[in-house]
Amino acid sequence: MEETWHEVLDVPDDLEVGQLVRTKIGPRRLCIGRSVNGFFAVDDDCPHAAGSLSEGLLDGVELICPVHAWVFNVESGECPDEPGCQLSVYEIAHREGRLAVRLPVTPASRDGAAPRPRPT
Ligand code: FES
Repeated sequence: MEETWHEVLDVPDDLEVGQLVRTKIGPRRLCIGRSVNGFFAVDDDCPHAAGSLSEGLLDGVELICPVHAWVFNVESGECPDEPGCQLSVYEIAHREGRLAVRLPVTPASRDGAAPRPRPT
């Protein structure tokens, strides 16, 4: 699958550990946060019933959905209590004060946000 980097413009790069922010890149809503291991980017819509994960709680690397309290690992996307339920996790880079997320290219994203080269 083709992927490309998108600069994240509306999320401060000084997020504190445990903070979550919702952003949108093209048609895709993302939850971006900072865990004990650094920045992460996942789909904002919970794979169970589309709760907004950016309104949830982050504990270590576990993101707790605000709707039914399912727990997702923000590094693997796994949901230990519901093994068939997988959260999409995206590669994120933070360099020189900029955040960028690597997302799959879709027909809608071709018309939306302009892709950027990989940050160096
Ligand atoms: S909507 Fe997230 S656990 Fe149900």
